Amino acid sequence: MAFKFPEENWQVLLLPERESWQSLESFFNAVKPQPEEVWADIGCGPGYFTLPLAERVKKVYAIDSSEFMLQRCKERTQAVGLERVEYLQCTEDKIPLGDKEVDHSLLANLFHELLNPEAFMREVKRITRERIILIDWHPIPSPAGPPIEERVPEERAIEFMTSLGFRLLEKHKVYPYHYFLVFKGG
Ligand SMILES: C[S@@+](CC[C@H](N)C(=O)[O-])C[C@H]1O[C@@H](n2cnc3c(N)ncnc32)[C@H](O)[C@@H]1O
Repeated sequence: MAFKFPEENWQVLLLPERESWQSLESFFNAVKPQPEEVWADIGCGPGYFTLPLAERVKKVYAIDSSEFMLQRCKERTQAVGLERVEYLQCTEDKIPLGDKEVDHSLLANLFHELLNPEAFMREVKRITRERIILIDWHPIPSPAGPPIEERVPEERAIEFMTSLGFRLLEKHKVYPYHYFLVFKGG
């Protein structure tokens, strides 16, 4: 059973100190989102990445298996009048989007939580036309994050993705506690 982030702690995901170890600026410098693009933020939570991403692109699908988290994200986008976000609830093995419906998908701090990673990543591959960005915790001591034994080491994540036919395009060493991998679905 994978570790699931406790929903009631959602505000922890938005603490200002997160910028010091997972800065949005580094994320945007690495992926360079463009105004005409459609993105999926999968496992969006309350929208740490969703909102600033939606300010830069045509549309963001905010996707989460938790209705509670989608609601928190929705309240935050509505509070700032951001209209380019659509909310979708997924399951552990199904994402309710058509084939290649998004240009790029982001999975930030989600991979280690997947209960059925193979089925889920096949869904991510099916819906994504270009890049899949996988950001997750190194199994090292850190100021936040899941228990170390629940984290998936970078090499294991790469092996797993490659075994499903994803191709590793880029590795960005921008975060002290996370790996940042860019794949293409093939
Ligand atoms: C640790 S939070 C990360 C949220 C956000 N990506 C961030 O970096 O701030 C993990 C999120 O993934 C969601 N989640 C867990 N399993 C999921 C799944 N199979 N499909 C979609 N979302 C899932 C949880 O509900 C939670 O909102």
